[in-house]
Amino acid sequence: MSTNSIDSLLHESRRFPPTAEFSAGAIAKPEIYDEAKADRVGFWADQARDLLHWHKPFTETLDWSGAPVARWFGDGELNVAYNCLDRHVESGNGDRVAIHWEGEPGDTRSLTYAELTAEVKRAANVLAGLGIGKGDRVAIYMPVIPEAVVAMLAVARLGAVHSVVFGGFSSESLRSRIDDASAKLVITADGGWRKGKVFPLKAAVDGALAAEGSTVEHVLVVRRGENEVEWSEGRDLWWHDEMAKVAAEHVAEGFEAENPLFILYTSGTTGKPKGILHTSGGYLTQVAFTHKNVFDLHPERDVYWCTADVGWITGHSYVVYGPLANGATQVMYEGTPDTPHPGRWWELIEKYKVSIFYTAPTAIRSFMKLGREIPDGFDLSSIRVLGSVGEPINPEAWIWYRDVIGAGTAPIVDTWWQTETGGIMISALPGITTLKPGSAQVPMPGIKIDILGEDGTRVDPPQGGLLVVSEPWPSMLRGIWGDPERFRETYWSRFSAGDTWKYFAGDGAHVDSDGDIVLLGRVDDVMNVSGHRLSTQEIESALVSHPMVAEAAVVGAADEATGQAVVAFVILRSDQEGAQTVDEASTILRAHVAQQIGAIARPRQVFIVAELPKTRSGKIMRRLLQDVAEGRELGDTTTLTDTSVMQIITDKLN
Ligand code: PRX
Repeated sequence: MSTNSIDSLLHESRRFPPTAEFSAGAIAKPEIYDEAKADRVGFWADQARDLLHWHKPFTETLDWSGAPVARWFGDGELNVAYNCLDRHVESGNGDRVAIHWEGEPGDTRSLTYAELTAEVKRAANVLAGLGIGKGDRVAIYMPVIPEAVVAMLAVARLGAVHSVVFGGFSSESLRSRIDDASAKLVITADGGWRKGKVFPLKAAVDGALAAEGSTVEHVLVVRRGENEVEWSEGRDLWWHDEMAKVAAEHVAEGFEAENPLFILYTSGTTGKPKGILHTSGGYLTQVAFTHKNVFDLHPERDVYWCTADVGWITGHSYVVYGPLANGATQVMYEGTPDTPHPGRWWELIEKYKVSIFYTAPTAIRSFMKLGREIPDGFDLSSIRVLGSVGEPINPEAWIWYRDVIGAGTAPIVDTWWQTETGGIMISALPGITTLKPGSAQVPMPGIKIDILGEDGTRVDPPQGGLLVVSEPWPSMLRGIWGDPERFRETYWSRFSAGDTWKYFAGDGAHVDSDGDIVLLGRVDDVMNVSGHRLSTQEIESALVSHPMVAEAAVVGAADEATGQAVVAFVILRSDQEGAQTVDEASTILRAHVAQQIGAIARPRQVFIVAELPKTRSGKIMRRLLQDVAEGRELGDTTTLTDTSVMQIITDKLN
């Protein structure tokens, strides 16, 4: 984050207490904090019993003897899909709409809980017929269509493990994820709608499976884009053909609470994405609990909309598992916010009378730029709770969100969490907390957060430090797929000692004099672009994989719209110099990164330079490059091997 925005977060003095009316009707009451404090582990056991159906009740709540791998509700058994579907039908809510889906071209579909349950049962039968059972990995590469949810829940219903890969990722990225998890099946679509066009998905799957020796036996293809696809007889199957062949009945079996539910890949500090592993009982407990309390969900009357793609953790926890476990009615939208017109999201809020809306600061900032006339043209009076996720929200965007989208009255919950934490960890509770713009504020009940100095001691407020989670929590990751060593090293080595385990999140945070937490962004080489996590090293690897490139350094530069933007500095191989103009080389390399990783990783700028600034030990000084990329005066260059390098770079860029 830029120094300016940190300053505005830290010096924010506006306060917004909840209205008496909101507090009176709110799900979470102030006592919840004391209850959780009095018996933290017992509090989570109560939530697990209250919020979920257990095929076999648990008697043990937490087993931390295998730290840092936790076991929550270890001797209990449940079926995650049954919890999200059948039980709502059995309790008389089968006619409640689960999903109001809206396709980008304007086609719509509403599915009740009874209909969604029936589809998932059929899909589970299809998958079982293809040999998918407990523990098998299934890759899902789809647009935001109801079948994506059906596919995830069908996998969960069988006790198998899904690995959803965001549809914007490249064939290369898909291949590495399929291979890492040894997936047996891929579920995809011919294509999906985005910005008024169909983008092909099946072709990327074909590319990912082209190499010899893939573990994938079948590809199930949903027809959505109606675009032409290549067909591999015997391997490829149309979803609708297979769904028509199977029975509509399927009985959900209970699986152990620690049965893996999904793997989701996320960027870390090294080049290779990490497969974050989540399991069933603890995960579902925390996402259901947080979804209900943070958003004040009244499932019988609220209409909830989270704009995330199911390919990200927010889509997993707050489009699929949390809302469906709670029996919510929600909106799902396939396309981009500005297609076919810039008021599309507000039109959907008006149309479905959305009362709870959850999105990312980057989206809010882009709407701010377009002006309030656009949302003002729609009736947004149904909104009563607003949520923010993915990156720090600057106070200016917070106030705009509340005033323009929330009629100046809706509480905003700024929710801090990560792919690894599975569920929300820090957030206001809307009927209780007096809100401060730009601050996530308070740990959830039952969650223990500390801000530590470099030496591992707790900082005294008001002060900044590094954010850690000091006690195990139900929806915590259980590991990195296939790499226990990296799991320990990445998250647990920095501040743990002896039997005391502290999870290091990679975020800097400030704790103010009220004890409230203000998040300050990543402290490692992970960038946050439009709320998406990208690794500087992963993009550097993509750049050096191009034959033109000798060396590359990537930084996240502050960007008003996207939070951070990818800026690359590249040295061309000597035999390449002069082969293209600098502009051509830069265009080629930007496209190369998009093709290697996905369009979200495409650098905003690629600068061709003669040298990179390095320390005496040979490490690239990214901080200096960041200064250049953000147009600042150069910081301390005394440890540079050759201080003239920076002069050359800045001269070249000015
Ligand atoms: O830096 C934090 C930022 O996003 C990172 C996690 O990214 P990811 O695993 O992709 O999950 C994003 C959605 C949960 C964190 O380490 N982050 C997320 N939410 C916030 C945030 N930073 C500040 N405020 C938030 N509310």
